[in-house]
Amino acid sequence: MHTTHANLTLVRHPLVQHKLALLRSRDTPVKIFKELVDELAMLLAYEATIGLPLEAVTVHTPLEATTGYRVSGKKLTLVPILRAGLGMVEGVLRLVPSARVGHIGLYRDHDTLQPVDYYFKVPGDASERDFLLLDPMLATGGSAASAVASLKRAGATRIRFLCLVAAPEGVRRLGAEHPDVGIVAAALDRELNERGYILPGLGDAGDRLFGTR
Ligand code: PRP
Ligand code: URA
Repeated sequence: MHTTHANLTLVRHPLVQHKLALLRSRDTPVKIFKELVDELAMLLAYEATIGLPLEAVTVHTPLEATTGYRVSGKKLTLVPILRAGLGMVEGVLRLVPSARVGHIGLYRDHDTLQPVDYYFKVPGDASERDFLLLDPMLATGGSAASAVASLKRAGATRIRFLCLVAAPEGVRRLGAEHPDVGIVAAALDRELNERGYILPGLGDAGDRLFGTR
């Protein structure tokens, strides 16, 4: 479903909303949180890949030949933003096992809320690839905008951003800096608090995934 934000698609499927409510709960333990992030990533990837081009192929069933379809076109590359994006990789790979995986290391400075870069590695032929950038949280949008800029510097031209929870501030910022990048999310939340956390949100995604704090 498209929203008032032209760059945002919200996935309203009942299973997505059910799992998201479990994910938000402060009572959900690390093990279940990790499983939910994995499952939600797979369900969002189903929506995010809806435009993949197909080509006709001949398939021989045990009875006769028929026309089937297979995904064609550009090679798909997943790029988790470390750390929390790592929790989304396996779920998407279950749908698209042939996808390659790059990595972008970024953390948000707790005081300035500015993204700090520490790692970048994607396949060399970036201009020939479709990218799915993965991060559970789109808050101020600083991390996502910086990751997209890094991908574009490497030659990427087709990028989609998959997140679980988005804030209006982040959707606006990504749309302003990178209007070509579509966002797929499970929820658009109300606002950010004074420390840059999404409200109602789910807390610190990285800490909840990896049991740190
Ligand atoms: C979180 C989250 C995003 C970023 C979002 O990561 O996973 O990458 O914050 O915030 P923004 O939209 O305001 O940039 P964090 O910086 O906490 O790093 P971590 O994944 O290593 O915990
Ligand atoms: N990063 C998180 O993990 N959670 C938020 O609410 C905002 C940024």
